Amino acid sequence: MNRLRNKIAVITGASAGIGKESALAFAAEGTHLALGARRTDRLEHIAQEIRETFQVRVFTHFVDVCQTESVEAFITAVRQEFNRIDILLNNSGLALGVSTVAEGRDEDWSTMLDTNVMGVLRVTRPVVRLMMEQPEGGHIINLGSLAGHVAYPGGSVYCASKHALKAITETVRQEVHGLPIRVTSIDPGLVETEFSVVRFAGNSDRAAKVYEGMNPLTGRDIAECIVFAASRPPHVNIDKILINPTDQAVLKVHRRT
Ligand SMILES: NC(=O)c1ccc[n+]([C@@H]2O[C@H](COP(=O)([O-])OP(=O)(O)OC[C@H]3O[C@@H](n4cnc5c(N)ncnc54)[C@H](OP(=O)(O)O)[C@@H]3O)[C@@H](O)[C@H]2O)c1
Repeated sequence: MNRLRNKIAVITGASAGIGKESALAFAAEGTHLALGARRTDRLEHIAQEIRETFQVRVFTHFVDVCQTESVEAFITAVRQEFNRIDILLNNSGLALGVSTVAEGRDEDWSTMLDTNVMGVLRVTRPVVRLMMEQPEGGHIINLGSLAGHVAYPGGSVYCASKHALKAITETVRQEVHGLPIRVTSIDPGLVETEFSVVRFAGNSDRAAKVYEGMNPLTGRDIAECIVFAASRPPHVNIDKILINPTDQAVLKVHRRT
């Protein structure tokens, strides 16, 4: 039985990494997609790839999760397109730099908190309202992180943002209790995506060093966990999946070279 066929999934940050792989994985299950990000050229490219391979509808739309009006316009457009949202994947997120608190910059801290915390709240607000009205409810899946469970030097604000997201996930689950709405957190360790390139301001050599000599997770690995959580029967809520590379035990990375 395919529980995801003909469902409608909204994915933020679908232009790269985990979001893109999740779009492909949901499409393979027959889920129709609404993809949002700032780089709409990339979104349209991914949408075209999906349409050529899978029999699903794919809608793309600009969204900047740091702008309330942009988020409202995105969700309004999704509702006009599909009239329903079954799954929300709050995936947009980023880390900027590895500065200590002593060396940190206001603009990096603000952007991380605005994207990873406020962004998730801005997107969740209109979607959870809709899910509360829908007799069939829905499923909200947040991209947390190992950084939401531990802290490390140089990761203060990124870790703080993912700790905050953990609190928001737990809060929303309790606020919708009694309704057919599920709330899940997917919490990965090191995943090789564009995440480190963004973190190091486009320095791909420095980014590559993060994964050197070890075997990191891939976006596909995380997408498989997301689809697993989303495809459980309605009475099953996967609260969280904490997933690390075999080469990574909490923060200690095993390097083979
Ligand atoms: N990679 C890891 O090791 C790792 C580990 C744990 C958790 N995570 C989490 O996984 C999620 C996805 O990260 P990733 O690894 O796939 O990184 P990625 O390849 O850099 O993708 C990040 C996505 O977020 C989007 N995004 C960033 N700022 C945005 C904004 N203001 N508005 C809308 N979209 C925005 C980007 O799209 P545009 O730039 O096109 O807008 C991009 O599609 C993040 O929440 C991250 O914190 C990653």
